[in-house]
Amino acid sequence: MDTKDSSAVDQLSVEELAAKLEPDLLPKHVAIIMDGNGRWAELRSLPRIAGHREGIKSVREMITVCLELGIHALTVYAFSQENWNRPIQEISSLMGLLEYYLSTERAKLIEQGVRLRTIGRLDSLPASALQWVRAAEQETAHLDRLHLTVALSYGGRAEIVDAVRELLQEAEDGKLQPDDVDEARIQQYLYTHDLPDPDLLIRTSGETRISNFLLWQVAYTELYFTPTLWPDFRRRELLLALLEYQRRERRFGRVLSTISP
Ligand code: IPE
Ligand code: IPE
Ligand code: MG
Repeated sequence: MDTKDSSAVDQLSVEELAAKLEPDLLPKHVAIIMDGNGRWAELRSLPRIAGHREGIKSVREMITVCLELGIHALTVYAFSQENWNRPIQEISSLMGLLEYYLSTERAKLIEQGVRLRTIGRLDSLPASALQWVRAAEQETAHLDRLHLTVALSYGGRAEIVDAVRELLQEAEDGKLQPDDVDEARIQQYLYTHDLPDPDLLIRTSGETRISNFLLWQVAYTELYFTPTLWPDFRRRELLLALLEYQRRERRFGRVLSTISP
């Protein structure tokens, strides 16, 4: 990264940052590991749930900015399979918050043209949360301005396991031969089969790991790690991430440089 350039952008206003973006070079699909809610709350001597609640405002802002910029797909990691190992009180609060979000935000999502879908092993969710999720998915199924995918009870390895199970079932039914299995075929069985792979993956809170998120899909995704905690990650931080993305040279294994070897 060009450090001179990046320290210069730190001084710019939100409007100046937005003006620096090149519309043709925006990612089509942004994925986010929304991390750091608990630490945000602890820093303020608040219960962890206060951080999760504040984090919802960041989700809202991401949706607004993506719509404004014409970014077509946004995938957010809201609850991992591993998160079932948290204390029961935190899990219940998070499920309650999910219901609250879907009940209060539904009308706005529809008005904004946002199609909401979920990925993950959703049968583990409490029945009432699952009902809210299915209702929101149905009510937004006809919308197309922004594809918002929420990963819930999601694990990247579990997704691959589920794909392999389906492939084996097809083979058992005589519909699939070993030679039919290629990368495109596996992709068809992933939860994200109708989404392009993310161009940019953002993780907040200073952790520099993938935590079992979209393992197959991020093979060639640009990774962006920031120390900002999720509730503090708003328009300005997203614009900075997008500008950094635009400075990267996506090579996909090829040589793009004009300098001959
Ligand atoms: C991310 O914030 C939200 C979820 C995983 C549900 P955390 O709850 O992981 O916050 P930290 O990492 O403990 O600060
Ligand atoms: C990743 O955050 C999962 C979500 C953001 C939903 P975690 O806080 O659960 O991840 P680890 O435990 O730090 O890897
Ligand atoms: Mg965390």
